Amino acid sequence: MIVGSTKEDLTLEKRVSLTPETAKNLINLGLKICLEKNYANHIGIDDKEFEKVGVVIENSSNEVLNTCNLLIKVNCPSDNEINYIKENTILIGMLNPSKNNDKIQKLIRKKVSPFTLELLPRITRAQSMDVLSSQSNLAGYRSVIDSIFEFEKAVPMMMTAAGTVPAAKVLVIGAGVAGLQAIATAKRLGAIVSATDVRAASKEQVESLGGKFLMVDANEDMETSGGYAKETSEDYKKKQAQMMREALKKNDIVICTALIPGKPAPKILTEDLVKLMRPGSIIYDLAAEQGGNSAFSEPGKINLIDGIKVIGVKSLMNSLPLTASSLYAKNLFSFVRNLYSREKKVFNINLEDEIIEKSLVKKD
Ligand code: NAI
Repeated sequence: MIVGSTKEDLTLEKRVSLTPETAKNLINLGLKICLEKNYANHIGIDDKEFEKVGVVIENSSNEVLNTCNLLIKVNCPSDNEINYIKENTILIGMLNPSKNNDKIQKLIRKKVSPFTLELLPRITRAQSMDVLSSQSNLAGYRSVIDSIFEFEKAVPMMMTAAGTVPAAKVLVIGAGVAGLQAIATAKRLGAIVSATDVRAASKEQVESLGGKFLMVDANEDMETSGGYAKETSEDYKKKQAQMMREALKKNDIVICTALIPGKPAPKILTEDLVKLMRPGSIIYDLAAEQGGNSAFSEPGKINLIDGIKVIGVKSLMNSLPLTASSLYAKNLFSFVRNLYSREKKVFNINLEDEIIEKSLVKKD
């Protein structure tokens, strides 16, 4: 069985889905690999590094698509690529089915089996494949680094002969995967960190990282049985805004990560709340591409509002494509290992396996 991968649209995506390390691991499973020429040159990985572990380099994407039984990608293939994919190919990537419905239907009509890793169940066995966690963890780290770069003051407390520099105060909204990594990173850099979340269960996690948990005074259980957040009620929103009013006056950097799966990002920082921050403060909105947690967020833009910089994130993984690719490729390897039967030497689409069943995008 042959696994192939082609280049992404480099104007939008710098990550790759295969690294020399994961290529070697796939070859050790008994698979063959082919890649489009100059596959990962843009992130400093030469074709020779792939060839050293046994990968075959093809001159064009069409040759790869004509050859492989399993195609691995970061994003959904282009329309042009879809025209060249062979019937009965298996496709794995972050296909974003709600956005790419037409392409997915076209793939299914071509008898391609599309697997999308965003739909993996969050169960223990799927942890090593969990692309949302691996990428959000990096996003949380990078959100702090980028915010500090834009912040025009020092972050840690410094006692010098010329006087004491106070530590910067960072507030993290949403203590999920990205939020927890943001807390850990900001603490490491010497900030005083607090965080809030609608799920009471996150209090212990925030505190274990050295952050102060800001609890909204409400008697509602905001956690679903699957461990995700629910949409908040009007009453809760009022109470949360009241808590924010005090917190925003005191903090220098706010990292927004609040997310409710399948819904637009909750709008937590209204125009009035944002303007309570001091000039020179930073709001870094990781949820900007889902509509933003702050009223002034726009993806890919820094908006200056009364001296407050509101940074709306866009394609954040392109700022650390090597690490993001390395983790993504490992997630993919774990998924392929689960799909491949070494005894029968075939990819086994066993719909009784929850991992396979949930991630396979079906017709309509
Ligand atoms: P997650 O689901 O692990 O965490 C989100 C947290 O927000 C949860 O703990 C949830 O309880 C909390 N939350 C929901 N509503 C809230 C509210 N009203 N107030 C306070 N907390 C609330 O999500 P994850 O993976 O940490 O992602 C966070 C954000 O970062 C998402 O918007 C995601 O799309 C974005 N992201 C962006 C990336 C990029 O490249 N631009 C990469 C990875 C993540």
